[in-house]
Amino acid sequence: MMWMDLAPMCAEHVPLGPLTWFGLGGTARVLATVSTQAQLRTVLARACEVDLPVYVLGAGANVLVGDGGVDGVVVRLKGGDFEQTQWDGPRVVAGAGVDIASLTLAAVRRGLAGLECMAGIPGTAGGTVCMNAGGRFGEIKEAVRRVWTVHRSGCCREWNQEEAEFEYRRSALTGHIIERVAFELVPDDPGRVMQRYREIWEYKKQSQPLGRGSAGCVFKNPPGESAGALIDRAGLKGTAVGGATVSEAHANFIVVRSSATASDIIELIATVQQRVEEEFGVTLEPEVQIWGDCGQAARWQSREGLACT
Ligand code: EPU
Repeated sequence: MMWMDLAPMCAEHVPLGPLTWFGLGGTARVLATVSTQAQLRTVLARACEVDLPVYVLGAGANVLVGDGGVDGVVVRLKGGDFEQTQWDGPRVVAGAGVDIASLTLAAVRRGLAGLECMAGIPGTAGGTVCMNAGGRFGEIKEAVRRVWTVHRSGCCREWNQEEAEFEYRRSALTGHIIERVAFELVPDDPGRVMQRYREIWEYKKQSQPLGRGSAGCVFKNPPGESAGALIDRAGLKGTAVGGATVSEAHANFIVVRSSATASDIIELIATVQQRVEEEFGVTLEPEVQIWGDCGQAARWQSREGLACT
């Protein structure tokens, strides 16, 4: 009722499973698909008016939606302003909804280095920058020069790399909605950039279960350790709860069958945490973003949506 006047941009009680790589979980109270900054501001103003938290969904590659769904407004930045890329020599400004794999490949083909470390990491420009995605080959922060955000209160801000305070899988941008990002890449020999990109892809293909049905690494690496190696050494590969299993290919991945529920994954996460703690005295912290009700079994907080402050 409250959102019908904003149809088709906004729809109520929409299943989020198909929009995430796990492919499961409940519905969004409201799903808003916006393609312009003006539409985004309209949705944010309405969310504030009715006092609902806002969640931003990128490619859904690192999000676990609880079975009870999300009691808030889930915003997707799709098409229009948000999927534009503007190249200017070694610089590119990308809308937050731009697919990072396509952007990486476009850069590699132009002989521009700096994004190859993103090979095999799914996501949008906004999502990967917000979380400072990356791995042993580098992090996206190295290529970020400027970020434009809007706060849910409607306040706009421009950030340079330092102000964004990038750290391991986090940044000060959390709590703001990224609208676009400027990357500064490094001209290099196209053959060499392509070769490095292929090598990283090859490493990922051999060591990780790529594709849907998982959300990449589930836990952050504890300082100086690899979460995958610890889980593996605890003998947990193949451990299953319902339709969720610790991957045999890489122990920091949980893979799901179509029958799996979010509760299965959450219970499996808690089991892994407990066993690794017993074995090595290390507490693993989830890297995957958990939205909505995550049940009593889990010893962590689900990620809050952005409140109207
Ligand atoms: N290892 C095991 N068993 C396993 C998995 C890994 O023994 O089941 C060992 C490996 O042999 C290696 C070490 O653990 O010696 C580290 O493994 P890997 O190189 O796969 O890296 P990782 O630390 O597990 C990180 C990122 C990944 C990224 C890779 C490669 C985190 C939490 N993970 O994984 O990122 O793809 O490096 O760049 O930072 C993600 O963030 O979702 C993600 C997949």
